[in-house]
Amino acid sequence: MSENFAELIIGGKKLELPIVEGTEGEKAIDISSLRRESGFITIDPSFLNTGACFSKITFIDGEKGILRYRGIPVQELAEDASFIETAYLLLHNEFPNSDQLECFSKLLTEHSMLHEDMRHFFDGFPRGAHPMHILSTMINALSTFYPNVDALSLIDDINVTAARLISVVRTMAAFAYKKSIGEPVVYPSADDSYCANFLHMMFDSPVKKYKVDKDIVKALNQLLILHADHEQNCSTTTVRTIGSAQVNLYATISAGISALSGPLHGGANQAVMSMLESIRQDGGDIEKYITMAKDAEDPFRLMGFGHRVYKNFDPRATIIKETCHTLLNKLEIEDELLGIAMQLEEVALEDPYFVKRKLYPNVDFYSGIIYKAMGIPENMFTVMFVLGRLPGWIAHWKEMISKGIKIARPRQIYTGKTLTHLSDIVK
Ligand code: ACO
Repeated sequence: MSENFAELIIGGKKLELPIVEGTEGEKAIDISSLRRESGFITIDPSFLNTGACFSKITFIDGEKGILRYRGIPVQELAEDASFIETAYLLLHNEFPNSDQLECFSKLLTEHSMLHEDMRHFFDGFPRGAHPMHILSTMINALSTFYPNVDALSLIDDINVTAARLISVVRTMAAFAYKKSIGEPVVYPSADDSYCANFLHMMFDSPVKKYKVDKDIVKALNQLLILHADHEQNCSTTTVRTIGSAQVNLYATISAGISALSGPLHGGANQAVMSMLESIRQDGGDIEKYITMAKDAEDPFRLMGFGHRVYKNFDPRATIIKETCHTLLNKLEIEDELLGIAMQLEEVALEDPYFVKRKLYPNVDFYSGIIYKAMGIPENMFTVMFVLGRLPGWIAHWKEMISKGIKIARPRQIYTGKTLTHLSDIVK
């Protein structure tokens, strides 16, 4: 057998299926000709073992806890880069020089304003509406204000559209928050950095000036970098799938936001805080929650624990845990929930149930405690994830359309009734 082919004997016929290999040595069997040549398809519910594309954006080795954007370890970016530099890196496949960074920052500033007519949309949402649902609706509504963004005509305009999305989502998020607390909105400023601008729009008010704290800006910058991409996760796969139908980019990103809102995905950062708060109110009974998480009959799961890809540790969680301690120390905040989270982690990491299943804290386990220290309300935590993930989603969409779009369309194995005539049922 050639090393570049896998042999499959099926229905008495021998097939040679090409083996493809990535730049980091990941191997796959290319089954794209399988059905044509054998009549068989493969079945892999929830894509546990299916590569859906070739991508040059992000590399993860879940066993070794490696995460790199365009080849650069996320630790280095988190330490020395800004979120805007990281966004540029993801979108353009190169780390920006000072001219490129200046142009990109200018573009972000120019497109940071929300169309004034859209400001009134916020009045239509019921009080208490979840900001993630508001955000996905508002992003979708951008299609009506900037309608010429279908996948094929967009190529020339992609830089403007990407900048508008990355920039305006921050304005929308802050407006949604201001609306929810009944305060006037604060417009973006041309002078602040991306993170400082967001904090200013969130917390400044006509009667109480908000002083941007450099440690908070640093921590926010780092959190956004750590969330900026994560290859073919649920929301990115949603973006690629929906984008493959040539849906415009705003509607596509809106779908990504909806996917991210689920508690098994980005919504976990909010769910972690609810869980820690329940444990606190329960007198800190960690064992009770560990027992519940291990009980197959109980739907409760330890939120912020486990990952489809990371089976050793989540490198983002390691950095976030450290930042959590540093920031709370600097701000002189003592949060009981941090103590509970640390105890929970310690107990779970020693417990055979979690050890056997390779369940470790993920990116969401400590991030909520940092957001809380920044003053960001719990229902905005997943919105913060959106701010970080936007460059990644757009980079994947760009990569997909640059290769020529083929609509995503899995097959199935039908297990329903065989031919049943209506006349056999309705007499
Ligand atoms: N608590 C308790 N048990 C768990 C947990 C958990 N957090 N996560 C997985 N398990 C158990 C499962 O019950 C299963 O046990 P079994 O083999 O006895 O049936 C085993 O570990 C494997 O779990 P799966 O659900 O098959 O793993 P999968 O890769 O499909 O799910 C997921 C990964 C969704 C992240 C899961 O670990 C989970 O639900 N975690 C909690 C939610 C969470 O933190 N999500 C954020 C993920 S990071 C992100 O999306 C940004």
